[in-house]
Amino acid sequence: MLDTATVRTPDRAFDLMLNGWLLYQVLACRVWARSAFYQSSGAYGFRDQLQDAMALIQAQPALAREHLLRAAGRQFVEGDVQHWWLPQTGRGVRTRVSDDRVWLGYCVAHFVESTADAGVLDELVPFLDGPALQPGETDNFFLPTVDEQAGTLFEHCARGLDGSLAVGSHGLPLIGTGDWNDGMNDVGAAGRGESVWLGWFLHFVLSAFVPLAEARGEHGRAATWRAHADGLRSSLEEHGWDGDWYRRAYFDDGTPMGSAANGECRIDSIAQSWGVLSGAAEPARAARAMASLDWHLVRRQHGLALLLTPPFDHSVPDPGYIQAYPPGIRENGGQYTHAAAWAAIAFTQLCDGDKAAELFALLNPINHALTHDDALRYKVEPYVVAADVYSETPHVGRGGWTWYTGSAAWLFRAGLEWILGCRIRGADLLLDPCVPRSWTEFHVSLRYRGTHYEIAFENPGGVSKGLVTLQLDGAELAPRPGVVPLVDDGVTHQVRVVLG
Ligand code: GLC
Repeated sequence: MLDTATVRTPDRAFDLMLNGWLLYQVLACRVWARSAFYQSSGAYGFRDQLQDAMALIQAQPALAREHLLRAAGRQFVEGDVQHWWLPQTGRGVRTRVSDDRVWLGYCVAHFVESTADAGVLDELVPFLDGPALQPGETDNFFLPTVDEQAGTLFEHCARGLDGSLAVGSHGLPLIGTGDWNDGMNDVGAAGRGESVWLGWFLHFVLSAFVPLAEARGEHGRAATWRAHADGLRSSLEEHGWDGDWYRRAYFDDGTPMGSAANGECRIDSIAQSWGVLSGAAEPARAARAMASLDWHLVRRQHGLALLLTPPFDHSVPDPGYIQAYPPGIRENGGQYTHAAAWAAIAFTQLCDGDKAAELFALLNPINHALTHDDALRYKVEPYVVAADVYSETPHVGRGGWTWYTGSAAWLFRAGLEWILGCRIRGADLLLDPCVPRSWTEFHVSLRYRGTHYEIAFENPGGVSKGLVTLQLDGAELAPRPGVVPLVDDGVTHQVRVVLG
């Protein structure tokens, strides 16, 4: 499974992680064991393994597909889901976390785009039943029953989206007891706090689902989702923009978070990267926001890319348990590698291959332990990704929670799909690399079912992006949009790509 793609670039540490280790971490630790030294649970996290599964689509589409259906089966009739569950019993926790239900649609839309297997949308999956959360109750761990009604996978995704359309006083989605950042559980516990990040994310998924809904004749839903996405976009620009970057959230009482006006958490990474990744942020602002991220959150002297800065310590209102972590540890202003991988991908979307690969190299665990002194500081395994690396004295540069982290999947995808730009779309291979200008030559060997594609990239002019020549077995293909039709004929095919 691990050699579906083998890469050879001028960055040996990049190659070592891409050629086995990252995918091994995803598959063995995240997907199969769901356990490691720092967290030995065996549970599935709703948003967690969905994201991991996306890294397996090229190597093991059947595994990814199976997990989409497994996750859909942990959704209540009302559209919310078990934030995590124990597969042996089905017991899990019902919460007011806001983003879980949107991840199902995100991953399903990506799966359909990557595999062209639209049939998955028609798979029937039952819903769960159980007591609703009572007013004031934030979560409840129980064994749900299986409802008599089943719905298509499309219907599951749609209920998740339909249940995510409420907005607060700034027109932004309600954050509930946390969005992707689990530790921000008090930002919106009273039901009024809003999330800028979730606004970008939801915008992306709603937009991806409009055509899927239309193709099924669900014109009412499509129209509602389109209108909602439009509304989100204007609210995000009107109330999300802070002047040099995007804010992160609004507390229940309307206080902004991730704003220059804050003493702690003045800027948060994911509100910037997802402005870009959603494609929804106004382009000049998106570029400025990423420059702010680079300036405030990337600490080159320590090899760290922080989640937010400064860390929470005495913030009022209290954002939640994130503030109970010591400053500089885990989500509380450490390097949170999962989010940093999104920043690397966002730089490819801005066509900045130098910065994307620089960030990848900075996150690469190998580069944290190149010397004896480095290894003593970093202290943890250099061959798997650490979820966090501490950022404050006396622990600057010390690796945290290794192995059991969703960052492995995102780093794998950042390297293969965005920096090297190799994306499978049904029976097409889309080639859209965004590399450092210093990479004059690199190579990807890709297995498509039983057939090998040897892809040689040449970059004589030292650019980051742009194809001028594309050849398949010596014959010219149109370089734009960089599509190589794939066939499973068992013959090794040679692809030549010239950037310029
Ligand atoms: C942990 C959780 C994940 C969450 C992340 C950020 O990795 O498992 O679900 O998104 O932390 O808080």
